[in-house]
Amino acid sequence: MRGLSSERAPVPQDAAGTSHPAHPIPFGRSQGASGSVAGSHAVMTGVTRIFGTAVHALGPVDLELRRGEFFSIVGPSGCGKSTLLDVLAGLSSPTDGTITFEGKRVRGTVPDGVGVVFQEDASFPWLTVRDNIGFGLRRAGFRGAEAEDRVRHAIDFMGLNDFADAYPNQLSGGMRQRVCIARTLVMRPRLVLLDEPFGALDQQTRLLMGDELLRLWRASGATVLLITHALDEAAMLSDRIGVMSSRPGRFIEIVETGWPRDRTSAIAAEPAFGDVTTRLWNTLREESLKAMASQRRVAG
Ligand SMILES: Nc1ncnc2c1ncn2[C@@H]1O[C@H](COP(=O)(O)OP(=O)(O)OP(=O)(O)O)[C@@H](O)[C@H]1O
Ligand SMILES: [Mg+2]
Repeated sequence: MRGLSSERAPVPQDAAGTSHPAHPIPFGRSQGASGSVAGSHAVMTGVTRIFGTAVHALGPVDLELRRGEFFSIVGPSGCGKSTLLDVLAGLSSPTDGTITFEGKRVRGTVPDGVGVVFQEDASFPWLTVRDNIGFGLRRAGFRGAEAEDRVRHAIDFMGLNDFADAYPNQLSGGMRQRVCIARTLVMRPRLVLLDEPFGALDQQTRLLMGDELLRLWRASGATVLLITHALDEAAMLSDRIGVMSSRPGRFIEIVETGWPRDRTSAIAAEPAFGDVTTRLWNTLREESLKAMASQRRVAG
């Protein structure tokens, strides 16, 4: 196992190439699931986001997501993490800077191949689990055997077989979140963006969901960007972790864990796991102290 490494002030690289191999297949084995991590997949260069004239929420941020990696972002509340995700997904436009996905500029709309899982439970209460999961497929025009197959496979993979015909209000919070993740992944995104998907869950369920997410990541070959408040979750799941400053959020450190691809939550028992969480904690602690000191200066 490689040791922990980290870099400050990461230098972005240009997106490499515009072509992409055949769609990876989530919920099963796939061509894209070989586990190789190579080349840039999504790149943010000098991205800032200012709301109105007063709220400088983000940046400038440079970020290069490598194809097939699991990248997490941690940072103080309000530092601009969700703003970064929205901008990267094309859900909102940056004030400055550029974003590319698979070599093409992202502007205004969510590019084909990008899937987003939001923090809040976004399941439709009036649809069954099966129909919730199949919703995006139907909207995208998928019908018949292929759509049914994808939904059946997703239900099976996510352990929801006994609840396929249940409604969201008949499920636990963890199961509802699984439905939301399945609904996104059934579209076979090549880049999955998750904004605190396990925020409302208890610690044990978070661990189990983390393992499920790792399983999906490996099976799909997708690139994953996860935003989380939980340092141990970031440390357990990620190849790299970007630590953000307080608002306006910028990356102050990128920590590379060196975990093997076939990891599980058992990695938390490794001594190196403690090194990663300590590193994250120290960086965030320094940042919080700086933010507190500058607030005091402003107040004084
Ligand atoms: N639509 C908006 N209009 C104005 N200000 C906004 C808007 N969205 C976010 N902000 C502001 O931008 C800043 C960053 O918000 P953001 O939601 O990105 O933070 P965050 O890091 O995701 O926080 P949390 O960890 O609490 O989810 C905050 O000060 C917030 O008030
Ligand atoms: Mg947020």
